[in-house]
Amino acid sequence: MTAIRRLVRGDRPIGDVDLSTSVGDVTLPNPVMTASGTAGHGAELGAYFDLQDLGALVVKSLSIMPWDGNPGPRVTPLPGAMMNSVGLQGPGVEGWIHNDLPAIRASGARLVASVWGRTVDEYGAAAEALTAVEDDLIAVELNVSCPNLEDRRKMFAHSGSSVASILDATSMLTVPRWTKLSPNVSDIASIAGAAGEAGADAVTLTNTLLGLVLDPVTGRPVLGGGGGGVSGPAMRAVALRAVYDVAAAHPQLPIIGVGGIAEATDVVQYLRAGASAVQVGTATFADPRATTRIITELSAWCSAHSVASAAELIRTAHSGGTP
Ligand SMILES: Cc1cc2nc3c(=O)[nH]c(=O)nc-3n(C[C@H](O)[C@H](O)[C@H](O)COP(=O)(O)O)c2cc1C
Repeated sequence: MTAIRRLVRGDRPIGDVDLSTSVGDVTLPNPVMTASGTAGHGAELGAYFDLQDLGALVVKSLSIMPWDGNPGPRVTPLPGAMMNSVGLQGPGVEGWIHNDLPAIRASGARLVASVWGRTVDEYGAAAEALTAVEDDLIAVELNVSCPNLEDRRKMFAHSGSSVASILDATSMLTVPRWTKLSPNVSDIASIAGAAGEAGADAVTLTNTLLGLVLDPVTGRPVLGGGGGGVSGPAMRAVALRAVYDVAAAHPQLPIIGVGGIAEATDVVQYLRAGASAVQVGTATFADPRATTRIITELSAWCSAHSVASAAELIRTAHSGGTP
């Protein structure tokens, strides 16, 4: 723990390697954040490490109203992965501001709030409620991988125009808006392009893959919510491909990569594919210190490969070369 502290504390370069990075106008001391929904709503991971050691803390998606989520069971293991159907349980923006934000504020973590909704108006209302605490935020992530009640429950993320509507409805926010897309589309580059044109400051790629596990005896889904979202190392190649394709199609659009990251070399792949930063989700369930371990290992990997800064790695897969 002390060694990790010494290596990653504060805003200065880690060891001899400069891990700092920028997502559009947002500068981070290192590229590793938590992934929404896998690090609690508040300062829970502060029991394991100093939250300032993260590139940023991304909290679980919040809606305008408190939400109970889905019945259990909510998670099930899969080979190299897990599947969840938590159903976006949460306290609502006002409850979060009252109950969770004070501890995060006290931790000094760079904070990203995430919002979701069932309608475009609900996204707008959640964003409006967050304007009261924008000084505490470095960005807001728009989780658009939710069913749209007004369009036959089709996911917002499945339509460029729906994603653009959410950006329009949340335009009162003055902090950068990162739009988190779904991998369950045929052409993620076109959806990302629509997000960028509508004002997204970055895209986060990707949310979980749609999945289903059945009980072979009853024929019923094992999760209480029915199907679920598959996450973890088994989906890494899918999300990495999304990052690569979006980076190729939209070189000016900042990208945050997420999906299956468990090792420093996974981060290196995402940076080379075109991400400026990454998020770590499922790995945190196996080891709550996974993020800080990966930051320390990333610094060591760069040193061992004569890479002086994380920035040197970004997009190198597109120029066909190593730094
Ligand atoms: C239990 C669980 C809950 C999640 N909740 C959210 C959420 O509230 N909002 C969101 O945008 N993504 C949510 N996700 C998706 C993750 O943020 C991430 O995109 C996905 O799990 C892929 O990353 P990973 O393989 O590192 O977990 C959740 C994932 C898991 C496993």
